[in-house]
Amino acid sequence: MSQSELIDIDRNHLIHPVTGFRDHQARGVTVLESGRGAWLKDANGKEVLDAFAGLWCVNVGYGQESIVRAAAEQMSRLPYATGYFSYGSEPAIRLAQQLVELSPSSLQHVYFTLGGSDAVDAAIRYITFYYNAIGAPERKHFIALERGYHGSSSTSAGLTGLPVFHRNFDLPRENQHHIPCPYPYRSPVGDDPETLIAASVKALRDKVTELGVDHVAAFCCEPIVGSGGVIIPPKGWLKAMADTCKELDILLLVDEVITGFGRTGPLFACEDEGVEPDFMTIAKGLTSGYAPMGAVLMSDKVYEGIADGKNGGGVVGHGQTYSAHPVSAAIGLEVLRLYHEGGLLENGRKVSPYFAERLQAMRAHPLVGDARQRGLLGALELVVDKATKRQFDPALQLSERIGEIAYKNGLIFRAFNDNILGFAPALCYTETEFDILFERLEKTLNQVLDLKHITQAVA
Ligand SMILES: Cc1ncc(COP(=O)(O)O)c(C=O)c1O
Repeated sequence: MSQSELIDIDRNHLIHPVTGFRDHQARGVTVLESGRGAWLKDANGKEVLDAFAGLWCVNVGYGQESIVRAAAEQMSRLPYATGYFSYGSEPAIRLAQQLVELSPSSLQHVYFTLGGSDAVDAAIRYITFYYNAIGAPERKHFIALERGYHGSSSTSAGLTGLPVFHRNFDLPRENQHHIPCPYPYRSPVGDDPETLIAASVKALRDKVTELGVDHVAAFCCEPIVGSGGVIIPPKGWLKAMADTCKELDILLLVDEVITGFGRTGPLFACEDEGVEPDFMTIAKGLTSGYAPMGAVLMSDKVYEGIADGKNGGGVVGHGQTYSAHPVSAAIGLEVLRLYHEGGLLENGRKVSPYFAERLQAMRAHPLVGDARQRGLLGALELVVDKATKRQFDPALQLSERIGEIAYKNGLIFRAFNDNILGFAPALCYTETEFDILFERLEKTLNQVLDLKHITQAVA
């Protein structure tokens, strides 16, 4: 089928995630055709360097043949096994075991989902069930961060703290609340780590007091706010929030859908701060995007409450046809092997200082107000004026223009609406690939600066 036919069919029939329907129809789809390592080729044969690992998920890079073999073997042996009626499959059981071994020791039980949103949904449902089961049915309120992202299913989107996921969807629900996120570059309390941490702890305490301590179920956060603009809290923030949850006797759900699987250095960001949450949600890097799969990991305390609580026991009515899918699980096992024995976690840790150095050097560019990074997760924040940190007028549609120009220059990254550029290179990146990334990025920013209306805005 020709390119233009594909584009027309897409325009007429395929709904894309998080787009304006008319904007997408006007722009048309960019069809991607193949990938190898950190590189993608589109249907016109153009090679582009992917600095975003697909959607911060293809952590092992494209074209890993051992994953393809693991999937094909599992497909030919047993393409599907239901988890209902107490059936199961070996890869899913082994993957659950490995995840329990590799994650914080508080987490002992795994429910597999199809991705991140339904992992968060599952966690919310289990938390609700748990409190009802243990005889605390008034604990119904959930607290999350402004700018946090926890998915776009009908419940998780309410925990998400980004207005575009609420608008016209009648969200957040009345039991879903948000507190400010610790944003060193723009926080009204400044960027001092201790002050920022203290402000977050106070905001959580104040919100719990406002709602009534016996009415709050859980606090939910990402260790680093991802889709909200790669906002990196100071070291010690997650631990302080975890300690506060313990003290207030509310559950902690850490959403590691982006930060998991080597993205920030360790396998999970919780490791860095010795945090032992009650729930952890994962997806993306679990299968590195080679097939859909997510999971929610649960503590013994909650599991036991659900199993034996005075109103618990009996059937827990939560399930999906494709929970613990054997092909996705076989892929997950091979992906975990590549992170460890395959040396990818180690490579990610080895190259991240170079990524950090090159990213920080971008501060010299006239458009760059802030550069931030942990491991292989990074962002540049573009501003009109570095001294005042003034943002560009959204009417300029700068992020769309940046994305287009970067693609022409053979580079993909995420240009968020508020002119934050997000980077999540695969763990297989080499220093040479980082050189290409930053050369193309600098060229892109120079071309953006040369656009007449941008030159005028920064003048
Ligand atoms: C932290 C976080 N949680 C949940 C999700 C939702 O995952 P999915 O898109 O797989 O439903 C995402 C997706 O980007 C995410 O970044």
